[in-house]
This record gives sequence, C-alpha cells and structure tokens, in this order.
Amino acid sequence: MTTFNILTLPGDGIGPEVLAEAVLTLKQIASVGAYCNTPLPEFHIEEALVGGAALETTGVPITGKTLDNARKSDAVLLGAVGGPAWDKLPHDKRPEQALLKLRSTLGLYANLRPVRISGPLLAASPLKREVVQGTDILVVRELTGGIYFGEPRGRQGDRAVNTEVYSVTEVERIAYRAFEVALTRQKKVTSVDKANVLESSILWREVVSQVHKEFPEVELSHMYVDNCAMQLVRNPRQFDVIVTNNLFGDILSDEASMLAGSIGMLPSASIGGVKNRAGKPAGLYEPIHGSAPDIAGQGRANPLGAILSVAMMLELSFGLSEAARRVERAVEAVLEKGTRTADLAQAGEKVTGTHEMGEKVRVELERL
Ligand code: IPM
Ligand code: MG
Repeated sequence: MTTFNILTLPGDGIGPEVLAEAVLTLKQIASVGAYCNTPLPEFHIEEALVGGAALETTGVPITGKTLDNARKSDAVLLGAVGGPAWDKLPHDKRPEQALLKLRSTLGLYANLRPVRISGPLLAASPLKREVVQGTDILVVRELTGGIYFGEPRGRQGDRAVNTEVYSVTEVERIAYRAFEVALTRQKKVTSVDKANVLESSILWREVVSQVHKEFPEVELSHMYVDNCAMQLVRNPRQFDVIVTNNLFGDILSDEASMLAGSIGMLPSASIGGVKNRAGKPAGLYEPIHGSAPDIAGQGRANPLGAILSVAMMLELSFGLSEAARRVERAVEAVLEKGTRTADLAQAGEKVTGTHEMGEKVRVELERL
C-alpha cells in the first residue's frame, strides 16, 4: 500500500486544539477507508513546531529543518500562528513569518478559500437569510506576491515602506488557476483589483483579460475592491470565483467568511506547481481563522474549519474526492442535528466544545 507523508504544524493559540480534531478525523477516515470506492493510502503523520511555539524553543518562527520536512511532505496541515506574546517582535521574528516562509519556499501561489453556506447555519450569519442563502463562492487569492513580499520594505527613518509588485508571470499563473477552476463551477470569474488607482492593478487587469481569451466559455468581469467589499454583503450570490491579489484576498475572504456564519467554518488550500508522490499538488491546508488567543486553551474553538481543510487535502493533494465528500457530509450532518460551537450558537442554544464537536463529526463518519 502507498504511504503518504503529512506534516502537521499545530502552531499557536487554538491551532493545536483544532488541529488535534483534524488529525483524529483524518485517522478515522483512513480507518473507515474500506467504505470508499478508492482504497485509501496509508498516512504517515509527523508533527513539528511553527510560529510562536517554534520561537520559544528554537528562537526562530520556523527552522530550516521543518521547512525541508514540509518540502518533502505530500501535504502539510497547519493550525494557526501568532499571539500577543510575540506582537512586539521585529517583523522578521514574528510567528507570521513562518507562514509566509512556508508559502514562498513551497511556491504555494494559489490560495483557494471556498465560502459555502450550510443550510443549518443560515441563522448564524449576521446577514439576512434571504441574502446569504445559496451563496457558493471560491476566493482564489494570489499568495506569494504583492505587498506581502515586495521590496523595498522596512523602516527608513521616520517612514515605513512596503511595496506592491506583480509580474506578468505571477498574474498569469493565478489567472489560469481561476479560469480552470471556474470551468468546474458556474463558469464566472470576478477579478478584483484597484485599477483606478494602482499601477500593479492595471497590469493585473490586462493580464487577466489576456488569459481570459483562452477561456471563452467563462464569463469574466472586473470589479474594484471597494465595490467588491460592498457587493459581498449586498448580493453575495452574484459571485462564483473571485480572483484577486494577496492583500485584497486576505481581507475579502475574512469578510466573506461571515456569510457562512463564522470564520471558524472556513477551510483553505494553498497550492503551487509542485506535485507530490500522488501526482497531485503538494499543498498546505489550514483553516482561515487565526490563533484566537482570547479563547485559546479553553476547548471552545470551532474545529470545523480545520476538519474541512482535511477534506480539501484529501481531494486536492490525494485525489480522494469520495473521502472528502464523506467528511463534508459528516460536518453537515452534525450541524443539521443542531450541534454548535460557541461561535455558531445563537442566544440560548447549547454550546459544544472543540473535542466534542470533533467526536460528533467522527460518529457521523462511521454512520454515513
Ligand atoms: C491568513 C492570515 C495570514 C495572512 C497571516 C497570519 C500572516 O491572515 O492566512 O489569512 O495574512 O495571510
Ligand atoms: Mg487572513
């Protein structure tokens, strides 16, 4: 039987709590693999420190050894990084650097953030039911360029500088991803930029329009980012695939997560051109939420974003779509039965803890 290597990086805050549930769920799906049509491979799981947790023991947010290990793995599963303890550190020492290093060293330029509204959670969104119902958006965020990585950057006396840079190649490859994935969905791409102000956005728009010529069956529209932020809450159903740069994608995906009721629900996949031993993209999978230091260690975090990241990993890095659908169905079943973590519960509703939520998902996995 094939064995695939998965590196887990729990990180900080609620990261270890939600990742523990994700890993238990992965082990469970591997053990019930017999129910799937495709025989499941064996997963060899190794864990390493990242973020503040790594800083405390090794002095750096991620060691070269861990980066190497990540590069050799067939997929990486990450919890969250960061926290108030490390907020005052200089830029290059911060826990977040671990994430940026992982993304850039592994060449993970495409970040996929699906925003799907689960029926039972319609009441959990602060927006009206009739606005969010039926929303199904995929944010395709460019992840290794733009202002996150542009040079020059740093302090210059009493000034601070960051630089937004995009090359034609960088925009082209993310545009291809967006159009290709749109072909498997509603065939609509909205490219989001700020081309009325930014030079890099003018290039972005030109290149996306150029790549679009190869995808005549996909409808392309361009939207300014400020308008998009407004349209997302006004009429989210108008969107299918949103493709945008690193910074806009970061902001818009947090905003879009509230359509789904809670940021705790959203998984993500970061992929690039590198293939793993399954012949699929060797990706990094993580919930989009942060380390939530205010609730860390209390067993109150929502593990569903992390568990759904496992589903994305099974599908994208291992081609195990059926297993992925089972995980998604199990999550849906648990929500249908009214199980709610604190972030999802309405006033008066019973609140379920992190581990219990994970256990309930695994009960459904056995049952479905
Ligand atoms: C995300 C996070 C990260 C980002 C931080 C933790 C560096 O907000 O993955 O969305 O800005 O990309
Ligand atoms: Mg973010």
